[in-house]
Amino acid sequence: MNQESVIEAGKLDTMIDQLAEHGWVVDHTLFSREAIKQLQQCCLEQWQAGSFHEAAVGRGDQQGRRSEIRSDSVLWLESADAAPAIRHYFFTLDQVRQAVNQAFYMGLEDLESHFAVYPPGSFYKKHLDRFRDDDARALTVVLYLNEDWPDDAGGQIRLYLDDACSQSLDIAPTAGTLVLFLSDRFWHEVLPATQQRLSVTGWFRRRPRI
Ligand code: OGA
Ligand code: MN
Repeated sequence: MNQESVIEAGKLDTMIDQLAEHGWVVDHTLFSREAIKQLQQCCLEQWQAGSFHEAAVGRGDQQGRRSEIRSDSVLWLESADAAPAIRHYFFTLDQVRQAVNQAFYMGLEDLESHFAVYPPGSFYKKHLDRFRDDDARALTVVLYLNEDWPDDAGGQIRLYLDDACSQSLDIAPTAGTLVLFLSDRFWHEVLPATQQRLSVTGWFRRRPRI
């Protein structure tokens, strides 16, 4: 195991404390600049190679393109035989998964993730990350890959902090920013950006209830 990719216990403790207190966390320390740069490169290579597809909404028979709801494009990631940057991503977040399980007995089993590219002007309207017929997605983790993101470029994730959506927090998608929140509790949306916006979005899943 690469010594450098083991997360300091203190960082994990801080995340766990904040998750316990609020149900969401914003972190800037988990991924190094270099790790983000490599993920960004991977993402752009695949984007330029045409490997992405337009994101859909819903699942199973209900799944479909709904460009009035979301207009990004995605590429699902494989944890095995992936590029080193992607393996590092999964390796790092698996430590988060284990820490969360230890602290909250959440029974998270795996992480499903995709790269997302939001071309200028695209967005994702307010939603919850949970399907009506499947409660496997328990914890959402979004990692942003945009170096030098201007303050006025938009593209924030707007995280609604209460059920009534009366309070919200806007977080800019700057390189290395990681947002973690309980998937069934926090409504959120992606505001339109004036420039291309890159991210890796993932969901820690537990075994679905049947
Ligand atoms: C999603 C999502 C947020 C973001 O893909 O479900 O809400 O900031 N993404 O990219
Ligand atoms: Mn979402």
